[in-house]
Formats: sequence, C-alpha cells, structure tokens
Amino acid sequence: MLPRMEIRIRPALEEDRQAVMALAARLAEGVAAWRDPEAAVDAGRQWLAGSLDATRERRGEVFVAVEGDEQRVVGVVSVNQQRHFTGVTDAYVGELAVAPDAVRAGAGRRLMAAAEAWARRQGLRHLTLETGAANTTARRFYAALGYREEAVRLTRSL
Ligand SMILES: CC(C)(COP(=O)(O)OP(=O)(O)OC[C@H]1O[C@@H](n2cnc3c(N)ncnc32)[C@H](O)[C@@H]1OP(=O)(O)O)[C@@H](O)C(=O)NCCC(=O)NCCS
Repeated sequence: MLPRMEIRIRPALEEDRQAVMALAARLAEGVAAWRDPEAAVDAGRQWLAGSLDATRERRGEVFVAVEGDEQRVVGVVSVNQQRHFTGVTDAYVGELAVAPDAVRAGAGRRLMAAAEAWARRQGLRHLTLETGAANTTARRFYAALGYREEAVRLTRSL
C-alpha cells in the first residue's frame, strides 16, 4: 500500500475498460478450494464486461477508484437492481475489486459508499451482495462496513 494514496471515485468511462478488466483476477479471491480458479477469473471478466455494457443502457452503474495525477484505476464496483424473493427490489453489488498495491487505503470503503449512494438515489432500501465463505478479507471488510450475513450456500462434493 502506498502511504496517503489520494483516491477519487467517479463513474467508469469507456476508456477505463482495459484497466477495469485487469482487476478481474481479484474476483477469484477466496473461491472455494473445490472450484476451478481459472474458470472463476474468466467469470469475473465476463461479469465486469457485462456490468460495463449495462451502464450504457442505464441498467446499473460502475464506479472506479482512481489515484494520482495519471488517474490510475485502482478499484471498481458495479451496482444494479435485483429482485429479492420477498418481492422487494434491492440494490446488488455484482463486483468489487481493489488492486493489490492499493488495498487498505480506503478505496473499497469509498467504492461501496458510491454504490450505496446510487442505491439511495434509486429509492432502494437494501444493498445486498455475495462473497465466498473462504474470502476472509472480504468478510471482515463488509462486517467493518456494517453488512450482515443473510444467506448461506452449502455444498457437498460427491
Ligand atoms: C475486499 C477489498 C475490496 C477491500 O478493499 P480495501 O480498499 O482494501 O478496503 P478499505 O481500505 O476501504 O478497508 C475498509 C475497512 O475494511 C476492513 N478491512 C479491509 N481489509 C481487511 C483485512 N485484510 N483484514 C481485516 N479487515 C480488513 C478494515 O476495517 C478497513 O478499515 P481500516 O483500514 O481503517 O482498518 C479488497 O481486499 C479486494 O479487492 N479483495 C479482492 C476482491 C474481493 O474479495 N472482492 C469482494 C468480494 S467479491
């Protein structure tokens, strides 16, 4: 982590696409030991590309964290709407990733604040997301931000 990194959050632009896609590998962090990590990275790439495409049709938003004079992209979050089975529409964070050399500088917290502000502007009352049970860093991060666990997915290898 760079000391006193100056981070700014803004909506992603088309020219950010390559830098955003470079963060896809981070989305395989904490994937279960019985899953294929390469397939997880591929999925991460597809999710991020889909989220960037969706913003063009105004289905959700993608925010990036940029630092320094060159506005280097060091983090990304995507947020859209998802219907909960109770019938309520929630805001849903699909992807959140911060570059390894930019962690613990507040980028993740500020990206989530941008996603929350977007959700409030849509009039939504909850923001939900999913993360791997083995992703202890993310679970600590979300707990620190006030997120409570709502559902647990169980798997048995056969
Ligand atoms: C999870 C992640 C987004 C956190 O981003 P970040 O920019 O490092 O987080 P922040 O600096 O904003 O941290 C905010 C708070 O979260 C908590 N936190 C963050 N990382 C932590 C860690 N490794 N251990 C314990 N607590 C942690 C701390 O309370 C921290 O506040 P502090 O630094 O003042 O103590 C980042 O580690 C990441 O990209 N991980 C890989 C991808 C991922 O797991 N994404 C989420 C699931 S899809």
